[in-house]
Amino acid sequence: MSYFGQQYPLYYPQSISGYEKVKMITMTQTTMMETEQRTKQLVIFGATGDLCKKKLIPALHKLWEQGLLENNLLITGTARREPTVQQWKESLGDYPEEFFHHLDYQPSDLTKVETLQNLQQAEDVTYFLSVPPERYEDAIVNLKEAGCLEDPERSRVVVEKPFGHNYKSADHLQSVVSRHLREKQVYRIDHYLGKDTVNNILATRFSNILLEPLWNRNYIEEIQVYATETIGCEGRSQYYEGSGVIRDMLQNHLLQIISLVAMEPPSKIDAREIRREKVKVLAAMRLGKKLIPGQYIGYREEEGVDDHSEVPTFVAGDIYIDNWRWQGVPFYYMTGKNLPYGCVEVVVKLKSPPQQLFDGHEANDRIVMRFQPNAHLDIRIDIKKPGLDDSVELATLSHDYPMENASQGYTKLLYEAMAGNQSHFVHAEEVLESWRIVDDLLCVGDQCKIRTVPHLYHPGTWGPSHKTQFITDWEYPE
Ligand code: BG6
Repeated sequence: MSYFGQQYPLYYPQSISGYEKVKMITMTQTTMMETEQRTKQLVIFGATGDLCKKKLIPALHKLWEQGLLENNLLITGTARREPTVQQWKESLGDYPEEFFHHLDYQPSDLTKVETLQNLQQAEDVTYFLSVPPERYEDAIVNLKEAGCLEDPERSRVVVEKPFGHNYKSADHLQSVVSRHLREKQVYRIDHYLGKDTVNNILATRFSNILLEPLWNRNYIEEIQVYATETIGCEGRSQYYEGSGVIRDMLQNHLLQIISLVAMEPPSKIDAREIRREKVKVLAAMRLGKKLIPGQYIGYREEEGVDDHSEVPTFVAGDIYIDNWRWQGVPFYYMTGKNLPYGCVEVVVKLKSPPQQLFDGHEANDRIVMRFQPNAHLDIRIDIKKPGLDDSVELATLSHDYPMENASQGYTKLLYEAMAGNQSHFVHAEEVLESWRIVDDLLCVGDQCKIRTVPHLYHPGTWGPSHKTQFITDWEYPE
């Protein structure tokens, strides 16, 4: 159903289910419906699922509390199930009636075009696919056929990770997407790009002159990137069996962080230029030879996990970037579950000065970017030790990132998607390059180019450290 090019009709609900959206006013024997004009709409597929309840609705509520939800926004929840609007709202939790005023529910089935045709009720619509990834293809083909995605300026689709499950499937999915949609209509989520602390990488690097002159192979010895968790699979083992740490963390969150740390400055801060630079740096990335996959002991006993599962819950290794800035600088990464400390952090190890003039000097100048928890930026340098001699000691200049007003994950991402800003979403070519980088790690069996069979580790330890200690001298976060 398209309203464009004609007088835009007033919004009215499909089913008059309650007084929350329609105020009935009785005036001298006449009952009038006072309806509101809705010019923007967010349609959430999978509205009866977990993600909608636990992440999307709370994020929308937060935007509403901050006065950032437009008054004329209609949020339509949809799924195959058929609760009434009221039942759906009740299932979401306790929210103020004024917020619920934005919400409506309509059943639909992504495999049936005719059920999608009546979803669109505003001129600018964001479709959020909170459904299993194997349904993305149907969703895009059928939404297009239903006429929901005709206007590239005013209709868009938000997809969760994973976009494909390896290079080949991502390439196929992308070929379907590009047959039906313009790239500017596709918003691929990596929720790390919704974190202010992660977006602060570009601000710290490119709004100052302090770091950039050092930020290259001449001054940097190596970079360590951590995304570690103390939790295990927390009831998600069944999903995890089909995913493992490579698809769950490395292909997306870690490579996104590395690309922000390593990319060239964009010519301006807009989606096109930022993503262009990220694609370039990802295209120059390749795995090194130091790969250690791990699996925590006890994983195989979890519900839904194969007794002989070889799915890694941990991986550490090295990545190189073949360009002038980074040639020869190793980016060591470590990510996994059930580790001693949960943290997302980048440690930049600087080279030693050419001459060691002072006693007590050690080659441990560092720039540390901690994204969570306790986000901060540390610069560790040597200073003169107070006293009569000329020796030096380590000092840390530290700045805590102010988290009070920091925007987190879905709040920012939903806001930006509805506003049509793609800066914090992943471009098709970024996804494909990321799958290319990790594709060899997804191989299973004896015929793989590299050993992908995980080494076991005890929960609460730094992975199979008897193996990872040969990769580098890790500066484990604490
Ligand atoms: C998700 C992964 O994408 O990121 C989870 O599927 C992981 O396995 C989570 O726990 C980590 O996100 P955060 O925001 O807690 O660092």
